[in-house]
Amino acid sequence: MTIVLRTDAVNPDKEVIDKAAEILLNRGLVAFPTETVYGLGAVAYYEDAVLKVFKAKMRPPDNPLIIHVSSLDMLNEVATGIPDDAYRLIEKFWPGPLTLILPRHPSIPRVVTGGLDTVAVRMPGHPVALKLIDATGRPVAAPSANISGRPSPTTGEHVIRDLMGRVDAIIDAGETFFGVESTVVNILEDPPVLLRPGAYPVEEVEKALGKKIVIPEFARGLAYSEIALAPGMKYRHYSPEAKLILVEAEGSYEYIAGRVIEAARSLGGVGELCVISSSETMHYYRSLSNVKAVFTLGSRVNLYEVARNLFKVLRLVDEAGCRVVFSESFPETGIGLAVMNRLRKASSMIIRASSPP
Ligand code: TXA
Ligand code: MG
Repeated sequence: MTIVLRTDAVNPDKEVIDKAAEILLNRGLVAFPTETVYGLGAVAYYEDAVLKVFKAKMRPPDNPLIIHVSSLDMLNEVATGIPDDAYRLIEKFWPGPLTLILPRHPSIPRVVTGGLDTVAVRMPGHPVALKLIDATGRPVAAPSANISGRPSPTTGEHVIRDLMGRVDAIIDAGETFFGVESTVVNILEDPPVLLRPGAYPVEEVEKALGKKIVIPEFARGLAYSEIALAPGMKYRHYSPEAKLILVEAEGSYEYIAGRVIEAARSLGGVGELCVISSSETMHYYRSLSNVKAVFTLGSRVNLYEVARNLFKVLRLVDEAGCRVVFSESFPETGIGLAVMNRLRKASSMIIRASSPP
């Protein structure tokens, strides 16, 4: 049985937090909001509870989990030999959506890390997440609270859809703040390597570090790594049931919409058209006669808005009954890099338009 606990995001109810902490300490599973997406938590020390997380999500066991801490003391219980560069980032970005790869403390069971000798750690900035970890008094291992492969959950309702009956409790505190997952950086490499673009722009992390961070192709969502450098990256992610066709084009609004319409005509024939657009371009599709649904991620000049709506829209596409959906692309700057990584990984086909004349 799953209990749903509702609370305010900014001022969480003490009873809700205490109840959820008690479930975690009893080796149960609790889904909770973070500032990025909802997570599905278990106490990181309890091997049996962590195994239940993989089972509830139907997640492959070699895809490691992120450990969430609420203090620097707790960080020292999950990682050892933390380099100075890591502390520089921690000081600047924690609590917040930055995950660091660090050497694993021997007390952390290998089921958490998919057998690796490193751990991924972050201190979440969401009041519910921080208070829950604090009340539990132990580090909490938590992947995103979705069924593996589906879009990550950004509302309590999404978690209820995916995990009702599969976990012990779900804390519903409404929408998350960023809507895409944390930025994952392997700080043990020199230069450091971006494993997953996320809510904190990599440019900001580079600035704080005073050095360049390597951005591999797979971090842009372009190639899948089969090796341990980025465990978990080889799996298809974030996908709606619908076939998503990403049309990558840069230029004027008219040019961008034109390439999407052109792709839809050549591939979709005369069928009904579903499109993922921006607020600047949506009117180009609305006027077409065969349009079924136009989903707007937000304004092209506010990529934070686009990121916040992305996973919600990927779920709405299925609810609207679209079997194929054409999506515009977005600039790969700031949080846009995370948006494009998710869109590419969610897509079944990528069409790259040539530059405008
Ligand atoms: O924002 C987030 O990071 C959310 C919230 C819940 O905190 N969590 C999240 O977890 O997105 P998940 O499991 O969906 O993604 C964790 C990713 C893995 O896919 C893996 O690529 C990377 O973090 N990871 C975890 N441990 C690692 C390790 N030891 N070495 C390299 N990458 C690791
Ligand atoms: Mg995930």
